[in-house]
Amino acid sequence: MRPNPVKSLPKQFNNPRAWHNFQGRTCSILAVGSYVPERVLANAHFEKIVNTSDEWITTRTGIKERRIAAKNESTSDLAAKAAWRAIKRANITPDQIDLIVLATITPDMPFPSTACLVQEKIGARRAVAFDIQAACSGFIFGLEVAQQFIMSRTYDTALVIGAEKLSSIVNWKDRNTCVLFGDGAGAAILRHRPAAHGLLTACMGSDGSRADLLCMPGGGSRCPATRESLAAGMHYLHMKDGKETFKSAITAMYTAAKEVLRRCELDITQIKCVIPHQANRRIIDAVAERLGARQEQLFINLHKYGNTSAASVAIALDDAVQSGRIQRGDLVLLIVFGAGLTWGAAVIEW
Ligand SMILES: CC(C)(COP(=O)(O)OP(=O)(O)OC[C@H]1O[C@@H](n2cnc3c(N)ncnc32)[C@H](O)[C@@H]1OP(=O)(O)O)[C@@H](O)C(=O)NCCC(=O)NCCS
Repeated sequence: MRPNPVKSLPKQFNNPRAWHNFQGRTCSILAVGSYVPERVLANAHFEKIVNTSDEWITTRTGIKERRIAAKNESTSDLAAKAAWRAIKRANITPDQIDLIVLATITPDMPFPSTACLVQEKIGARRAVAFDIQAACSGFIFGLEVAQQFIMSRTYDTALVIGAEKLSSIVNWKDRNTCVLFGDGAGAAILRHRPAAHGLLTACMGSDGSRADLLCMPGGGSRCPATRESLAAGMHYLHMKDGKETFKSAITAMYTAAKEVLRRCELDITQIKCVIPHQANRRIIDAVAERLGARQEQLFINLHKYGNTSAASVAIALDDAVQSGRIQRGDLVLLIVFGAGLTWGAAVIEW
C-alpha cells in the first residue's frame, strides 16, 4: 500500500484521489436529506387495476408499497423538500451553495432544468444549477460531477439531488412496469472537511448499444408529442426485456463494486454499509452474494418505496444515516444501475 500523499489523512486504506489529485482537496458529504410524498400505494391496489397479486410483486421484486406524488406536486417540489432537510442538517444557508446538480428522468418540463426551478424554490441565488440524466444511476453520476468541482477548488459547497416523479411516466395498464416504480427525492450537501477522505472513489460506466432496453420513446426530438404518439403510449416508460435488464444489472453492479473496492484496496468485510440501487430484492441479493457481502451489511428500503430511479440510493443513504446504520468514519459502498445503460459504484468514508 502506498502512503497517502496528503499528510493530514489517516492511512488505513489507499485513497486513489489523494494520489491523482494531490494538488486538490478531498470532498465529503456534510449532510443528507430526503422527502417522499405522503400517499402510500400498497401492492393490493394493483390487484384492482392489472392482472397481478401482492404475492407475485412481493416474491418477484421485494416491493410492498411505494409513494405517489399528488397531482400538484412536481419533481422540483420533492427535490426542494429533500434539499431543505439536507441544508438544515448541514447547518448552512442556501446562499452558501455554489453548485446544484440534479439528476432526474422526470424533469418538471424538458427545459428549463429542474435544478434551476429548485434553485429558485430554495433561494440558492448564488448557485449555478443544471440537470444531469443517467436514469437510475443519476445520484452517483451527480456526486461524481459535483465532487470534481470541489476537489479542484472551483466551488466550495455543492448540493446534489436525485429526484423523480415516476408516477407521471408509468403506464398504469402495463403490469410489467407499473408495480415497480415510486416517487421521491434525496439530497446531499458536499464540501471539503479537513482530515476526512469523504468520497474516496467512484466508477461509472455506460453502454448505449442497449439504450432500447429501458426508455421513454416519445416526447423528444425523435418523436415529438402528437395525437398518434399519445395513442401509441410513446410517452410512457418502456421496459423491453425485464429478464435481460435483471441480468445486466447484476453483472454491471457487481463489476463496478469490485472496481471501486480494488482501487481503495478494500475488502468487502471492511465496508460497514452497502447501499445498492433499490430496484429488485433479487438483484440486490445476487450482487451481495457475488461480492461476499453479508445480509447485515446491506441497506434495503425498497419494500417501502419501490424503484425511485435517481432518488433511490439518495433516499436509502438518508434513511441509513438517520436510522444510525452509518456513523462518521464508517465506509459506505453505493452501487447503481439504470437505463442507458448506465452503472456505477462509489466508496465513501462517512
Ligand atoms: C420485471 C421482473 C420483476 C420480472 O421478474 P422475472 O423473474 O423476470 O419474471 P418471470 O420471467 O419469472 O415472469 C415473467 C412473467 O411474469 C409476468 N408478469 C410481469 N409482471 C407481472 C406482474 N406485475 N404480475 C404478474 N405477472 C407479471 C410476465 O407477463 C411474464 O408472463 P409470461 O411468462 O406469461 O410472459 C424482473 O425481470 C426485474 O425486476 N427486472 C428488472 C426490472 C428493473 O429493475 N428495471 C429497472 C432497472 S433500473
